[in-house]
Amino acid sequence: MARIIMGIESSCDETGVGLVRLHDNGAVELLADEVASSVEQHARFGGVVPEVASRAHLEAMVPMTRRAFETAGLKMSDVDAIAVTAGPGLAGALLVGVSAAKAYSAALGIPLYGVNHLAGHIAVDTLQHGPLPTPCLALLVSGGHTQLLRVDDIASRITELGSTVDDAAGEAYDKVARLLGLPYPGGPPMDKAAANGDPKAIAFPRGMTGPRDAKYDFSFSGLKTSVARWVEGVERRGEEVPVEDVAASFQEAVADVLTAKAIKAAKEFDIGTLVISGGVAANSRLSSLARERCEQAGITLRVPKPKLCTDNGAMIAALGAHVVAAGRPQSSLDLSANPALPVNVVSV
Ligand code: KG4
Ligand code: ZN
Repeated sequence: MARIIMGIESSCDETGVGLVRLHDNGAVELLADEVASSVEQHARFGGVVPEVASRAHLEAMVPMTRRAFETAGLKMSDVDAIAVTAGPGLAGALLVGVSAAKAYSAALGIPLYGVNHLAGHIAVDTLQHGPLPTPCLALLVSGGHTQLLRVDDIASRITELGSTVDDAAGEAYDKVARLLGLPYPGGPPMDKAAANGDPKAIAFPRGMTGPRDAKYDFSFSGLKTSVARWVEGVERRGEEVPVEDVAASFQEAVADVLTAKAIKAAKEFDIGTLVISGGVAANSRLSSLARERCEQAGITLRVPKPKLCTDNGAMIAALGAHVVAAGRPQSSLDLSANPALPVNVVSV
C-alpha cells in the first residue's frame, strides 16, 4: 500500500512543505512542493539574519502546509509519516520546523522522522530521475554548504570525502557579487554578468589544488580575496572595473575546482554517477563544465531542476520516504534541532 510522507524544511531562509507518495516498489512521487522565502528581507544585510529568518518561518509554516495539501488534493489525515529537517542549519530556524512537525505528529498520531538537510539535497534527485544507483557521488553546493559525499545508501550511509575549509561556494558568489556592486543573492546576477564576459580574462587562483592540499576539500576565501585585490588595483588606477570579465573569470575558477575534484573522486572510487545539488547547481557554467567533464570520463551526471536544488520541503519528504522504506527507526517526540548535525547521520 502506497504511503504519503510530509516533509518540512526550515533550516535557513526557506520555509518548505512537501508531500510525496512512496510506492510499494520504492519509487517516490512528488505531489506538492510549496516554498516561502524570506530572502528579500535579508537582501539589505547581504546575508541571512537568523532572527529574521526564524520569524518568517513562524509566519509561513501554516500557510505553506495548507497550500501543500491543497495542491496535492489531500487531507491531513491522509499523511502516514512526517519528516523534518533536524539539522544542520540555523538553530532558531530549525526549531520552528521541528516544533511544527512534532505538533502534527502528535495531533495526527503518525511517526516523526528528524532527518539531515544535506542528505535531503541528494534524495530530492530521486523525485526527478528515479532511484539512485549505489554507490554514487554527490556534490552539494549552496550558500551554506560545499561538500563532496559518497552515498552508499541514501537512507543510512553517507560519507563525507571533503568539504570547504572556509566559505561555501554560494557564499563566495554572494561576497564577490557584493564587491562588484551586484544584488544579493549574488549567484544569479553573477551568472548573468559572466555570460557576457571572458572566462580567461583574469587568471584567478584555484584554491586547495596544490600537491599537499587535501584532495577533496575546497577553499574559496583566497579566491574571494584575490578578486577583491584585483578590483582594488583597477579602481586605484582610476579605471572602470570590467564586471563581466571578473564575473566570468571568477565563475570559471569555481566551476573548474568543483568539477575537477568531483571527477577525481569518481575516478578514484570508481563511481559511475555524480549528482550535483544545492542552489549553486543552477549555475550555468558549473553544469556545462560538469557535463563536459563527466562525458569525457564516462560518468552519468544528474542535476535536479533548479526548484528542487534550492531548499524546499519536497527534498525532506523524499528523504523521509527513503528512510521509511528502509525501515529506519522513527524519532522520539523529544527530538531536538541540531545546528551542527554531521552529514553521516541521515536520520536521528
Ligand atoms: O540551496 P540554496 O537556495 O540555499 C542554501 O544556501 O541552502 O542556495 C543559495 C545559494 C546562494 O548563495 C546563491 O547565490 C547561489 O545559491 N546561487 C547561485 C546561482 N543561483 C543561486 N550561484 C551561482 N550561480 C547561480 N545561477
Ligand atoms: Zn540547503
